[in-house]
Amino acid sequence: MKTASSSSSSHTFPVTASLCTPYLLLVPLGLLAVVLVIPSLGSSHVRSDGLGVLCRADAGGYLVAPGGGGDVTAAVAETKAVAQPKPELRLLVGVLTTPKRYERRNIVRLAYALQPAPTPANVARVDVRFVFCRVTDPVDAQLVAVEAAHHGDIIVLNCTENMNDGKTHEYLSSVPRLFASDPYDYVMKTDDDTYLRVVALVDELRSKPRDDVYLGYGFAVGDDPMQFMHGMGYVVSWDVAEWVSANEDILRYNDTHGPEDLLVGKWLNIGRRGKNRYSLRPRMYDLNWDMDNFRPDTVVVHMLKDNRRWAATFRYFNVTAGLQPSNLYHLAP
Ligand SMILES: *[C@@H]1O[C@H](CO)[C@@H](O)[C@H](O)[C@H]1NC(C)=O
Ligand SMILES: *[C@@H]1O[C@H](CO)[C@@H](O)[C@H](O)[C@H]1NC(C)=O
Ligand SMILES: *[C@@H]1O[C@H](CO)[C@@H](O)[C@H](O)[C@H]1NC(C)=O
Repeated sequence: MKTASSSSSSHTFPVTASLCTPYLLLVPLGLLAVVLVIPSLGSSHVRSDGLGVLCRADAGGYLVAPGGGGDVTAAVAETKAVAQPKPELRLLVGVLTTPKRYERRNIVRLAYALQPAPTPANVARVDVRFVFCRVTDPVDAQLVAVEAAHHGDIIVLNCTENMNDGKTHEYLSSVPRLFASDPYDYVMKTDDDTYLRVVALVDELRSKPRDDVYLGYGFAVGDDPMQFMHGMGYVVSWDVAEWVSANEDILRYNDTHGPEDLLVGKWLNIGRRGKNRYSLRPRMYDLNWDMDNFRPDTVVVHMLKDNRRWAATFRYFNVTAGLQPSNLYHLAP
């Protein structure tokens, strides 16, 4: 029940705008390129959310479209011209993290960028965003702005940085407002020490209802086999996020202080929401000390708290299997 974060992308891989799913979101270049989630801006600014669109690259991997730099208007026009059919499902993955975790964020971006796309093509649109509270340090503000300008996968919420003091609530309740004009089917909360296999999750979600869903690693309490979902990563359907967003009792009863995953379960249980519950155990799990409990059918593996554990994860899932031999590097991963 901890919280961290991560995400996806790199411009060193071939990006083809035309392969991006429908909309590239405009990043307000210039400003703290980030989406300071300002409620009063309303839906007219929703589209100024990050550009971090996961695209299918030629190689079939995920990419986050580069956010800044280029001619955004042209990029959007081009994207519209090749608008694809509506995907079967749309998923927002929010990786909760903190500004200073630059190195981890880079690893997590790559972890998403190098994953295969779900098949059949266009079955899912999956957007990965790194989620922060307000960035107060001026150095971080500049460096995070540079990331946002380039990767476009940053969301900054109006909260003070914290793990168990309301950040998840701010995330779940801001998303319905931020993306009101173009809603997702599902909203996921995950951390930067979690490796999510997007294809495996999409395969699970395809057959699930689109409403009243709460899916993750179910935690049993008493007679209830799934009282709440572990914070390593859980998914709620859009209606559930909207319900959290509109529920003033959660704030009135100060019910945002404490272990975020347990609290989300508590809100939903009290409100009788998220009744379509699914636990993906044992396909979601913590990597053990010896790092020998990986499974081929993994949906989520968690506790990747250092580079060594990320390296083991990439090795197990053959992430560099496609690396072409070259005289330019001699790596023996
Ligand atoms: C952020 O939240 C604070 C306290 O909840 C509020 O007073 C302020 O107006 C908010 N700022 C923005 C930009 O929405
Ligand atoms: C809510 O919780 C915070 C932190 O635990 C505490 O400081 C505050 O007094 C509480 N407010 C109410 C109304 O209970
Ligand atoms: C990685 O590649 C090896 C060799 O091709 C294969 O046996 C193994 O199943 C792959 N692992 C996963 C998790 O796909």
